[in-house]
Amino acid sequence: MKAIGLTRYLPIEDPQSLIDVEIEKPTATGQDVLVSINAIAVNPIDVKVRSPKDTIEDTPKILGWDASGIIEAIGDDVTLFEVGDEVYYAGDITRPGAYAQYQLVDERIVGRKPKSLSFPEAAALPLTTITAYESFFERLALDRNGGNKGETLLIIGGAGGVGSIGIQLAKSAGLTAIATASQPDTIAWVKQLGADHVINHREPLRPQVEALGLKFIDHIAIFNNTDGHWEAVSDLIRPQGRIVSIVQNETPLDQTSLKTKAAGLVWESMFARSMFQTPDMIEQHKLLSYIADEIDAGRIRSTLSEILTPINAENLRKAHALIETGRSKGKLVLEGFPS
Ligand SMILES: NC(=O)c1ccc[n+]([C@@H]2O[C@H](COP(=O)([O-])OP(=O)(O)OC[C@H]3O[C@@H](n4cnc5c(N)ncnc54)[C@H](OP(=O)(O)O)[C@@H]3O)[C@@H](O)[C@H]2O)c1
Repeated sequence: MKAIGLTRYLPIEDPQSLIDVEIEKPTATGQDVLVSINAIAVNPIDVKVRSPKDTIEDTPKILGWDASGIIEAIGDDVTLFEVGDEVYYAGDITRPGAYAQYQLVDERIVGRKPKSLSFPEAAALPLTTITAYESFFERLALDRNGGNKGETLLIIGGAGGVGSIGIQLAKSAGLTAIATASQPDTIAWVKQLGADHVINHREPLRPQVEALGLKFIDHIAIFNNTDGHWEAVSDLIRPQGRIVSIVQNETPLDQTSLKTKAAGLVWESMFARSMFQTPDMIEQHKLLSYIADEIDAGRIRSTLSEILTPINAENLRKAHALIETGRSKGKLVLEGFPS
């Protein structure tokens, strides 16, 4: 089957950084489904895994953790899906990724594709949706059905992949969403997605929050640059409030202000369940199917912003280069393998 892989970890400008390869089609066993991939999305994690280093792979390493497609075969223990089902999923960082015509994925982390979305619109969603959903409704323990209605949620990095679905999840839960964005088109994008207020993450945050008539924020989600925003968010979080971060810090985070306010920091890692095979892995199947229902009911929309065709090394190098700028909005998706 066709795939796009790497054997050396090179700067993205190097044509060898991602290459078109032929590899063996895998076979589904156990709880795995074999998916014939129709569309894939590119995420910062792809770029982080591909970052230049001296390691050399004996066989091509296949990246990619966002896909939509059709189930082609199922393992003997599969109970949630049948051959022919249309699905969307992020997959497991410890296994070969979605830059391939076929991919094996554990059924417990696969959702049924929203019926009202095309394959590219669906491929835009899974990794970022799992991240934002787990951040808000599990790590921050907010109520998706409106139990925190009217409370404020600050989303740092509102126009990114995670922020774009995060704003919509926050609004559907009845929260007041304050999103950050810094460019005219990303500001317009977060407003379109439903943000109640937009503030600029390249300017000091406290004066902008005070200009909204607020002293503290009830809940904060750091979806970009934990180090850069830490001082501001630990000042802004309300006493006994909680901050969730999805981005690894590079330097130690001073906890003094949190201790004084009895506030807390909690981490989200959307690969934790699959990586550690936690007993509740199936929660990701359930949440993706819940979001599919919300989309089909017209309450949430895809965060797709651009499609590149076909799925090949040249287009994936373009997609990685865009993610590396740190200035993309929503999700870039690649569709269809060349015949
Ligand atoms: N822990 C997890 O499970 C998990 C899951 C998914 C993603 N992540 C991580 O979360 C981060 C965001 O992911 P993503 O997919 O949303 O990224 P993305 O789509 O590449 O984010 C692009 C957006 O980031 C904004 N941005 C750039 N610099 C910023 C800054 N200093 N402060 C705030 N926002 C800034 C930009 O907004 P403007 O153009 O308006 O400046 C841009 O719209 C990445 O580091 C990713 O690896 C972690």
